[in-house]
Amino acid sequence: MEPNREKRISPSDGPIAVTGASGYIGSWIVKDCLEQGYTVHACVRDKNKAEKIDHLQKLGQEEAGELVLFEADLFKRGSYDDAFDGCCAVIHAGATVGYNKETPQEVYDGCFTENDHVIDSVKKSKNIKRFVFTSSFAAVGHPRPPGYIFTEADWCGDNSDGYKGKWTKDSISENRDIAYAMAKANTEKLIYKVAEESGSFDAMAILPLHVIGPLMCANHDQGWSWQNCMKQMAQGKPYKKSKGGRMLWNNVDVRDVGKAHRLCAESLKATNGSRYILSATDRSGELFTWELQSLMSRLFPEITSIGGEEMVDGKPLKTTYDSPRSYCTLAIEELDLNTHSIEETVKATIDSYLELEMI
Ligand SMILES: NC(=O)c1ccc[n+]([C@@H]2O[C@H](COP(=O)([O-])OP(=O)(O)OC[C@H]3O[C@@H](n4cnc5c(N)ncnc54)[C@H](OP(=O)(O)O)[C@@H]3O)[C@@H](O)[C@H]2O)c1
Repeated sequence: MEPNREKRISPSDGPIAVTGASGYIGSWIVKDCLEQGYTVHACVRDKNKAEKIDHLQKLGQEEAGELVLFEADLFKRGSYDDAFDGCCAVIHAGATVGYNKETPQEVYDGCFTENDHVIDSVKKSKNIKRFVFTSSFAAVGHPRPPGYIFTEADWCGDNSDGYKGKWTKDSISENRDIAYAMAKANTEKLIYKVAEESGSFDAMAILPLHVIGPLMCANHDQGWSWQNCMKQMAQGKPYKKSKGGRMLWNNVDVRDVGKAHRLCAESLKATNGSRYILSATDRSGELFTWELQSLMSRLFPEITSIGGEEMVDGKPLKTTYDSPRSYCTLAIEELDLNTHSIEETVKATIDSYLELEMI
């Protein structure tokens, strides 16, 4: 493959804009870019919300690059024009996530409205060479037999024998998870097309799976998040997001997810349409709930009760469906990403809760 020199960026090309800068993933993107010496245009909804901004201000004082805060709202057209002006790249990690009261169709349509506004501002700014979108592994995963290994070649709309009919167009209006997955996948397809037509920038995507790792502030403990599930387990509560607490956790460190976004913007190998799954490095990062429980107990012997799935005589009550299996091999190979071990990640997650006095 020919190296893609024309659109790769470096700190000397100008500022880099980050949407959703106050969020869990966004904050680690900001930290990584500042560490590399970029001027970061950090886009937040409200500069006066101390609980969402203080940790960013601190990063601006500690790290090499300069932090500039911009206020912007994903639901307002033109809101990102000022923040993107003069930037060499945009990392778009902002999104309305979580379980609000939207219908599945509203989840799907909302994603397009938000992204349409952001892309509109990207097109107006003349210097942007790279647009990195935080998609999701949801844009890849779909029902497959147990043990199937997903790669970047998979799309959530794919049907396989025996599963036909589950991922039709109608599913979007009926199922929130499918609406979210299809919105991410179709947004990816849209941005690759828009970028190709423009010729002035490359669009690429990072597709995280179960993101865990250190929180920078209490606001990163959103009720729907995987890190919050781990907090509850550390408080001795059962894992409730899946039936009987049974799930295959395919874990990636939030610090690695943050870094991968910047590496994507700088990469010689990544090009328009490149997509990178950010999941476990290898099988050590894929843990059934009971295995995660046992790792947490090993790393934190002082915590007497760690909750999780239903166990009988030290063994899980039932076996867990073996999915989703997937590895961040392409990101390691093409972006030169170094990843944290699962022990480092789990330890840092719970340590950050302890430091924030939330456990
Ligand atoms: N966490 C995961 O496991 C995971 C896995 C796969 C994909 N992702 C994707 O990663 C991205 C970031 O997720 P996250 O976990 O970092 O969530 P998060 O902590 O909730 O961050 C979301 C960010 O979006 C901002 N935002 C929300 N509504 C907005 C609006 N109307 N206008 C402007 N900004 C708005 C939030 O700002 P405020 O602080 O003002 O609310 C926040 O900074 C999302 O696209 C998500 O789908 C996450």
